Amino acid sequence: MSRDLLFAALLLGLAACDNLWLDRMKVQPKLLAYAPSDFYRDGRAMRRPPEGTVSREETLGPPELIEGGADGGLVDRIPLPVDQELLALGRQRFDVTCAACHGLLGDGVSVVASKMALRLPPSLFSEAVRGAPDGRIFRVVTEGYGLMPSYAATLSVRARWAIVAYVRALELSQNAPLALAPPDERRRLEQEASP
Ligand code: HEC
Repeated sequence: MSRDLLFAALLLGLAACDNLWLDRMKVQPKLLAYAPSDFYRDGRAMRRPPEGTVSREETLGPPELIEGGADGGLVDRIPLPVDQELLALGRQRFDVTCAACHGLLGDGVSVVASKMALRLPPSLFSEAVRGAPDGRIFRVVTEGYGLMPSYAATLSVRARWAIVAYVRALELSQNAPLALAPPDERRRLEQEASP
């Protein structure tokens, strides 16, 4: 066997091993989010970190930032610069975390809602949510609310505020005042509305 051939054979052999290892990693047993599991006593696959655990990545800061309010009050406005980057993060996290129950649009139309008998995940366009200070939505996500669990363990402080920003954008997408439309668009809409 020439040296080149030997080298090629060796490479092929290595590639085969590599695939075997990779395949083993891909097919290892795992549980999907929200799946049932008889391994744990509460029957759920999704786990939380043990009580009191502090993550190395945990954001530290004033209660307005990390709790959504201080001294019994709630912050009115998101205490971070709201830019395109934050909104994109909010959209991504909302779609993954919240949409399963509240719907991709936030209107409460979702598979979970259609199968839930006890209390449906509400639309986020209600007067109650639209009129609430930003800190309230942050707090609902941080602490949970009624039947809705807390998502503080899976969403960073920044991601939670990003979601609040995205919920506000969703609300606007369904209920924007005419004055917010660009002048051209406003004229077109006004013409359409007048007979
Ligand atoms: C597993 C389903 C589920 C998921 C996921 C979920 N929610 Fe909820 N949410 C609910 C339910 C159910 C309620 C009503 C709870 C009650 O009244 O007991 C609720 C209530 C709320 C409320 C309060 C509404 C009001 O009328 O005051 C807000 C705000 C909210 N959710 C936002 C979110 C956001 C943002 C996310 C994503 C981080 C999220 N929810 C994820 C099920 C869910």
